[in-house]
Amino acid sequence: MRTKNSERGSLRREFIKRASVGAAALLNPALIRANGGELNMYTQEERNGKPRRVIIDTDPGTDDALAVFLALRSPELKVEAITPVAGNVPLSLTLPNALRLVEIAGRTDIPVAAGADRPLKRRLVTAAYAHGENGLGGVQFPEPKVRPVNERAPALIDRIVRDAPGEISIIAIGPLTNLALAFHENPQLPRMLAGITLMGGSLSGGNVTPAAEFNMYVDPEAAQAVFRSGVPITMVGLDATRHAALSEEHISTLEKSSDPVAHAAGQITRAVMNHSRKAGYSSGPVMHDSLAVATFLDPSLVKLQEYYVEIETQGEFTAGETLGYRRAPVRRSAPFEDSAAGESAAETFQPNCKAALDVDAGRFFSLLIGRLTGTQTAVPAGRV
Ligand code: RIB
Ligand code: CA
Repeated sequence: MRTKNSERGSLRREFIKRASVGAAALLNPALIRANGGELNMYTQEERNGKPRRVIIDTDPGTDDALAVFLALRSPELKVEAITPVAGNVPLSLTLPNALRLVEIAGRTDIPVAAGADRPLKRRLVTAAYAHGENGLGGVQFPEPKVRPVNERAPALIDRIVRDAPGEISIIAIGPLTNLALAFHENPQLPRMLAGITLMGGSLSGGNVTPAAEFNMYVDPEAAQAVFRSGVPITMVGLDATRHAALSEEHISTLEKSSDPVAHAAGQITRAVMNHSRKAGYSSGPVMHDSLAVATFLDPSLVKLQEYYVEIETQGEFTAGETLGYRRAPVRRSAPFEDSAAGESAAETFQPNCKAALDVDAGRFFSLLIGRLTGTQTAVPAGRV
């Protein structure tokens, strides 16, 4: 997706201005069941046992690959679309990688729509050092035969959500550029979403800088817009995902499987494990994105805590930091001498997300490996 630079520039400036206002959109209570003031997703009973409809926004990406496979292997989900974004590697790779994933899984019925090829306001910083030059650990899968749909990701997201207000959730496992663009182009969208479960952020230090986790680091302005949108957010950050590293046994189980999805997952994670070993790391590939999908499937897998999270966008060294407040006052930095009268601290605590602080790793891997190898179809113990 490319727009003229001048158009992008004015779009971005306008969007940043609007997003910086940051007033959380009033959610339409009719769309989301309120329960004692806490916004909840629809429960299974309210969906009459129907699969939960999701859009996966992703930057495949080695851990994205296993996350997408897990979603496609979960009968509780109906994946309505996959929307690649630039992140781990450029869009020119995340797009065909997403197409490869639906082909490997035999799900070419799912529309794949190209998203943003760069962040809203910054130059793209990729993570090929961690995901390989091709984004899949260097494993060579055949060129995809299936084509992307002829629709931009923000437009596809808007169309699907608008056709089913309150029914669609987003599972976002890359930089949040596509979502932020969709919200900018369609201001009504946040009110129509059931919720967002995202992999990103950290309340205990980053993995790109000491402050910022990669998905937030790449596009802090997009993340700020999403966290200020008013949509109920479940933030699955490094606080939980850093405890979700695959073991040699997990990888070996995947490699030995005759299931094409499991075998592909085994090839990818073996490549990452070999790269980690060569780089002197002892732990295995961390399944950041799969834990976001698993948390959507079964929130009881993680320990969730309500936070008010703001995204740092001005820091020379801290842009992309997810700053979590557990109580009021929500203070800003001390005002400069020459700045306008500083905004007073927010005296009331209004959480904008539930953050995952820990994980039951044993249950998580049982779900992940079991579903990828086709040996675990039981619905997880939690609320789905
Ligand atoms: O920080 C981890 C996140 O950044 C994961 O989504 C990984 O795929 C990378 O995008
Ligand atoms: Ca990712």
